[in-house]
Amino acid sequence: MIKTNHTMKLALVVGLIFILCSINQITSVLAAAEVNQEHDQNLMTYIVHVKKSDNVASFQSEDFHNWYHSFLPQNFPHKERMVFTYRNVASGFAVKLTPEEAKSLQEKGEVVSARPERTLSLHTTHTPTFLGLKQGQGLWSDDNLGKGVIIGLIDTGIYPFHPSFNDEGMPPPPAKWKGHCEFTGGTTCNNKLIGARNLDKSAIQEPPFETLIFHGTHTAAEAGGRFIEDASVFGNAKGVAAGMAPNAHIAMYKVCASGTRECYESSILAAMDIAIEDGVDVLSLSLGLDSTVPFFEDPIAIGAFAATQKGVFVSCSAANSGPEYSTLSNEAPWILTVGASTIDRKIVASAKIGNGDEFEGETLFQPKDFPQQLLPLVYAGSNGISSQNQNQSFCLPGSLKNIDVRGKVVLCDIGGGVSSVVKGQEVLNSGGVAMILANSEAIGFSTFAIAHVLPAVDVSYAAGLIIKDYINSTYNPTATVLFKGTVIGDSLAPSVVSFSSRGPSQESPGILKPDIIGPGVNILAAWAISVDNELPPYNIISGTSMSCPHLSGIAALIKSSHPDWSPAAIKSAIMTTANTLNLGGTPITDQRLLPADVFATGAGHVNPVKANDPGLVYDIQPEDYVPYLCGLGYSDKEIGVIVQWKVKCSDVKSIPEAQLNYPSFSILLGSESQFYTRTLTNVGPVNATYRVELEVPLALGMSVNPSVITFSEINEKISYSVDFLPQVKENRGNHTFAQGSLTWISDKHAVRIPISVIFK
Ligand SMILES: *[C@@H]1O[C@H](CO)[C@@H](O)[C@H](O)[C@H]1NC(C)=O
Ligand SMILES: *[C@@H]1O[C@H](CO)[C@@H](O)[C@H](O)[C@H]1NC(C)=O
Ligand SMILES: *[C@@H]1O[C@H](CO)[C@@H](O)[C@H](O)[C@H]1NC(C)=O
Ligand SMILES: *[C@@H]1O[C@H](CO)[C@@H](O)[C@H](O)[C@H]1NC(C)=O
Repeated sequence: MIKTNHTMKLALVVGLIFILCSINQITSVLAAAEVNQEHDQNLMTYIVHVKKSDNVASFQSEDFHNWYHSFLPQNFPHKERMVFTYRNVASGFAVKLTPEEAKSLQEKGEVVSARPERTLSLHTTHTPTFLGLKQGQGLWSDDNLGKGVIIGLIDTGIYPFHPSFNDEGMPPPPAKWKGHCEFTGGTTCNNKLIGARNLDKSAIQEPPFETLIFHGTHTAAEAGGRFIEDASVFGNAKGVAAGMAPNAHIAMYKVCASGTRECYESSILAAMDIAIEDGVDVLSLSLGLDSTVPFFEDPIAIGAFAATQKGVFVSCSAANSGPEYSTLSNEAPWILTVGASTIDRKIVASAKIGNGDEFEGETLFQPKDFPQQLLPLVYAGSNGISSQNQNQSFCLPGSLKNIDVRGKVVLCDIGGGVSSVVKGQEVLNSGGVAMILANSEAIGFSTFAIAHVLPAVDVSYAAGLIIKDYINSTYNPTATVLFKGTVIGDSLAPSVVSFSSRGPSQESPGILKPDIIGPGVNILAAWAISVDNELPPYNIISGTSMSCPHLSGIAALIKSSHPDWSPAAIKSAIMTTANTLNLGGTPITDQRLLPADVFATGAGHVNPVKANDPGLVYDIQPEDYVPYLCGLGYSDKEIGVIVQWKVKCSDVKSIPEAQLNYPSFSILLGSESQFYTRTLTNVGPVNATYRVELEVPLALGMSVNPSVITFSEINEKISYSVDFLPQVKENRGNHTFAQGSLTWISDKHAVRIPISVIFK
């Protein structure tokens, strides 16, 4: 493979995007160069929620405008300052105000809240086969493939010319579709890509080369890309590329600012508002707030509630802030929260050291002509840990200039706020010939196939320690990198990747999150430009940004075969049928190669074929969330912002979080017993008998009543109760939490929900 400067530059871009998708903290560094386009420094965009008007049912869009304008002063420059008005996701609007104006607005009785908007950060050839989807069979039979379903993506934009979005053989969108196509320069939509809206209010100076569309192009293709023969990157991972729902229609709503990685809250609300109106069936959001806020202040939670009320399924990324606990975004129970896991395909290389040991890792750039003989090996950080040496150990830009790395293989530590591609560039600039990238302890055994600019391999933390020991104990250490290409069949897959955010939920600890894990590591899908000068262009990247659209596409497949199922029923089907074992038949592991706990996996790894036929579902209607929200301690006004109808908690029997009819249990257990009920709905055979099977969490007693349930009608609902009984504290040992499961089993179905118990 011949590398030109051109491909090297592209590889650099690819690396930056990878970072964006997998390591949240760095986005602020990358965004530092953004331009402030606000003319008046005192003006900020405020999100204003107002009390819902009693006449709203009869409102035309004119009336909405007039009503919202009535909250603002007489001579207010509406044209310049009103940013968005909302009608589905909120009673309210986004408007540019000075702090003084905002203050006087807040004092109006009809105004619920007015606060400055925040920004949110962005958080496949092979995945269908890995997920058991086979062309021409079952969910992927020619008359499903997501036919008739519309997936809306709230993302960075899309490259409309990619073959993944061709509409050959696709019918026109369903009659209910009301969306528009807003590309500049006369580009039109087609029967695949049926809508494209730009809600990036800061889009004043569109750069000629719009790098940001990469992310949205990739996620859209993962959810709904068409079948494309012979897709690959650098010749790796060759195969048929396809999204999860190749015959679903897709619509892109662009909410992130060109040239920065900032996605504005007002734009996200506007996008969800419009998408609901347009008639999407599924919404996919691979972005989120970095810190937890109450649901009534979270634009995605607010927008997703309105969507759920209209029957729209909402799938969101769990964020990339793992592996620490309580690092999730998008925790609301009406959202499907998706973590990321590996697939069984690796793009393999290994680090071979002078004593003959070989350590397997990954890289996307696989040169065919790299010599296999051993070369001198150096660890730039080998002289202790002064800050100078720490920079060197990370191979930060400029840090290697006083070290002789010419002609050598350089060992670099991952991290230090710089992408791995940039480290490789520093090694290359300093005369090094190859790089071994050692994981941090937190990243553990997770490895990433990255488009490096030189021969390189990413190895585990454990391998890095052994290689460092070898360097330390050898007079003339040597190493090389051996390239092994695409290898399929990793029996440890799926495993939870290091960066995938973990529960417990901070905003609602009584709901287990994430809900599910899906493919999010080294995923091949459409890209806006070719990374290997081979068209059509694809790239391989990682993130919960990638796993979320997989689940959006799977939800579209289920919606297509069960059009009458509610969003909660689809979610239940996905969760209760999830896999808890890997391909090797052992429990799913995490980045440490230890069994992953429920705060990493949720219900487990998605099994789309089983999800289409779950037997029973745990259904929830929109109004069921009100007693739950009252139970969270929110005020009537705060709940009104979310549900958009008048709520009086004093008239509603509020419930503890764990009493919501959710397809999992998350219990905070003290010394008292706890008692909950759940209701099952029969969506399987007319006559079916289920008996309960329990995996009782450590140091707990559980009883389920009844323990056998017989259904004799379709859609019949039957409730059962569960007691959680604490045992003596000593039985808990050192454990602060425990986990288990509750499964209803018939001769055809197993309907499993996970249980987490945090000891108070
Ligand atoms: C280490 O790198 C950081 C970030 O590039 C830089 O600010 C700092 O000055 C460097 N420290 C040394 C000792 O070179
Ligand atoms: C190398 O050996 C020295 C002295 O024995 C020790 O201080 C240092 O921590 C070792 N470095 C590594 C990376 O193991
Ligand atoms: C279901 O069971 C009832 C009562 O045993 C029986 O009358 C009916 O035929 C059964 N229906 C089906 C579809 O098997
Ligand atoms: C529990 O913690 C104590 C004190 O840290 C330790 O001595 C003991 O070995 C631990 N027990 C288990 C079962 O891990």
